[in-house]
Amino acid sequence: MKKFALAMGLSLAVSAAPAFASAGFQFPKTGIAESASLNGKTVSWQTYAKIPYVKRPSCGSCQRLTVYVPEAYLKGGTVNGYTKETAPIFLPNSVGGYMPGDIADPKKPNFDGGESALLAALARGYVVVSPAIRGRTTKNAAGRYVGKAPALIVDYKAAVRYLRAVKNELPAGNTDRIISDGTSAGGALSVLLGSTGNDPRYLPYLKKIGAAKARDDIFAAIVFCPITLLSHADEAYEWVFKDETVYHQGKIPGGMMQPPKAVGNGAAPAARPDNAPTEAAAGLPLSGKQIAASKVLARAFPATLNRFGLKDADGKSLTLKADGTGSFADYIRSLYIASAEGALKSGADISRFKCLTVKDGHVTAIDMKAYAKEVNRLKPVPAFDWFDAGSGENDEFGTVKNTPRHFTAFSSARDPKHHAMAPAKEIALLDPFTSISRKDVTVAPHFRIRHGFEDRDTVLAVPASVALKLAEKGSDVDFAVKWGKGHAGDYDLDSMFDWADGVVK
Ligand code: DHB
Repeated sequence: MKKFALAMGLSLAVSAAPAFASAGFQFPKTGIAESASLNGKTVSWQTYAKIPYVKRPSCGSCQRLTVYVPEAYLKGGTVNGYTKETAPIFLPNSVGGYMPGDIADPKKPNFDGGESALLAALARGYVVVSPAIRGRTTKNAAGRYVGKAPALIVDYKAAVRYLRAVKNELPAGNTDRIISDGTSAGGALSVLLGSTGNDPRYLPYLKKIGAAKARDDIFAAIVFCPITLLSHADEAYEWVFKDETVYHQGKIPGGMMQPPKAVGNGAAPAARPDNAPTEAAAGLPLSGKQIAASKVLARAFPATLNRFGLKDADGKSLTLKADGTGSFADYIRSLYIASAEGALKSGADISRFKCLTVKDGHVTAIDMKAYAKEVNRLKPVPAFDWFDAGSGENDEFGTVKNTPRHFTAFSSARDPKHHAMAPAKEIALLDPFTSISRKDVTVAPHFRIRHGFEDRDTVLAVPASVALKLAEKGSDVDFAVKWGKGHAGDYDLDSMFDWADGVVK
């Protein structure tokens, strides 16, 4: 009886403390005033820099974040209808190529020279939180590689937990309105954060780094060209590119660190996200072994896709027949057609794409074989899990000693040097499909996912499958193919933040 009373007393004492009392997590008392100009207007904010967001960092200063707070909130003002209590928290990651992501600076432009998403967010009254995140080359002082899978998602979650742990100390920001954002590998990370809220499978990793004990579900995820579903992406890629026997990815071991070169016609290649694989100066032929493997992978995709059990908005099953045609293929074509039709309506010249059929002023069809030829094949075969384990993704699934590993049985069985498979558990922790259907996971209620019309870093089937699964699970998913874009992100900030305001307000 006495024991019970004591326990009651204790729990009362705990619950009387402020919710999630920071439990050892600190938020700085003062920031630094900064400002920058955006469209002729001065945007002013306070910067609270390089705050540790875990208690047991994996390496030196790698798990820190910077919080940028619109100045108006420190003076009791409002921005864009938000107050310091209601301001959403924009949580972009800078991950590209599965490399470490650094803390981003609102004063620096986007990788393509465009306006910074962070600055645009501050101007709209969002509190911006930019975490540094471990990546595949992160080492600790002892030289161990501590940033391999699933480190990136563990860190992103830890950053969310930190914000909730210090929510009563934050100068502004609503921790129930956290919106992630990322491009490519960072897009994969953003959609994963949105798909794995409070998933208990990550707890051992979060405990190890001393993450705050708090929820890690988020309100919305903004996602550009996610390099995700890695276990299935090789098959999907060949479903589209099997007839293309020349690839254009820079050819060096690891595949991702080569400096940009001019493309064949001498034109500078389109800007690509930091650490994305580069374009080679000229196309390279696939080997006979690769061409044969492409056919096997392409033939395997329909069964894989059918196992996903996807449905459209009307509940109709989207499937593929053994020959690769079927309702899912029709759906994919409809996404490209909608994108081209939108461009045509807005007066764009779409005649460059011979794969499109225009009849009576409307885009009526797309020939996917012609599409594959026109955008051309970026990646070799397999696109992601290379037989020699030399891709960036093989490195991402590598060991603490930096030995790359496979993540598909297909490539593992064909590796002349017999690199090991990564543990199935770790492969699953980077795969949003393994969490979306779990009952103990809080999936974000809102997603905005974009894939460029000309993107061939991964194929549209990948983000489309994820978008369909999330919608089926009950999330509101705004998914579209962006005309005029290849592999890129943060390129439509006005509509992106209009969307974000729309879901928040
Ligand atoms: C990225 C691009 C890729 O093509 C890839 O395989 C992995 C990552 C990127 O831009 O982040």
